[in-house]
Amino acid sequence: EPLSSPAVGEVLLAEPRGFCAGVDRAIEIVERALKKYGAPIHVRHEIVHNTYVVNDLQAKGAIFIEDLAEVPAGATLVFSAHGVSQAVRLEAERRGFRIFDATCPLVTKVHVEVAKLHKEGFEFLMIGHKGHPEVEGTMGQLSEGIHLVEDVEDVARVRPAQTEKLAVVTQTTLSVDDAAEILAAVKARFPQVREPKQQDICYATQNRQDAVKLMAPKADLVIVVGSPTSSNSNRLRELAERLGTPAYMVDSPEDLQLAWFKQADDRPLSVGLTAGASAPDVLVRAVIERLRALGAVSVRKLDGVEEHVRFPLPLGLGDKSMAEL
Ligand code: F3S
Repeated sequence: EPLSSPAVGEVLLAEPRGFCAGVDRAIEIVERALKKYGAPIHVRHEIVHNTYVVNDLQAKGAIFIEDLAEVPAGATLVFSAHGVSQAVRLEAERRGFRIFDATCPLVTKVHVEVAKLHKEGFEFLMIGHKGHPEVEGTMGQLSEGIHLVEDVEDVARVRPAQTEKLAVVTQTTLSVDDAAEILAAVKARFPQVREPKQQDICYATQNRQDAVKLMAPKADLVIVVGSPTSSNSNRLRELAERLGTPAYMVDSPEDLQLAWFKQADDRPLSVGLTAGASAPDVLVRAVIERLRALGAVSVRKLDGVEEHVRFPLPLGLGDKSMAEL
């Protein structure tokens, strides 16, 4: 069915969007491990939640596994950006793998905080999404005393063993607004609860959501580049919809559907475009090409904060000699 043309007028690009420093570093760790030690490199869980990235690394010799039982003796093993439980870490060490930890340093920071407060006798409420590997990793820092709350109802139901020493931690990629609402419920029920000094939701999640808040009201529809498994990408799509703008997530440019661009009048559509923290820029550029084919005449970058965060590589992969590889 032909579109009334032109369908798309302007593309609005959210700033910032796409890769965060933790994703950048995690991918670089796998690439450097492949260069230094050769294929295969085993990676526990998708290094980051993006289909394109995973396929690309697989083609270069990475093998993604969920269970350490699948990893042969003597292998080089990378932990994904989401982090791992103590049980997984100890098992990997026991089996003698050469380990590189691609856990985002901002997730590690949460793990360190949990271990420290646990020693001081704290029990925890973790705000996060059940089944997400980051939540499994953070909750798995302790064998007990950490309770998941996914929503306000869970806060009413949760039964900590004591309430004197109770602390809150969160997944790094939550909806900032949902997390604030759940935290308010936690504070209402447990007024003495200890909050993190700086919230656990990371700078990248915060900045990408702020950018969508600015962009969505200016757009007729919003497209989020990201994979279905990506928590922060899903949150960006939801946020645009909450702001009243229809929003769709695409894992690749082929996912774009003509039906999204139908309109009642002849006015060209303004399309807002962003990408989750694990979605590579090459996909954003490919989506822009498709939008041009649908008539987009201009691409306008919106204002937003500039990010300068960089994380160092782990010892053994970040040294100077590696630069020559
Ligand atoms: Fe780290 Fe946040 Fe990215 S926790 S991996 S910087 S989305």
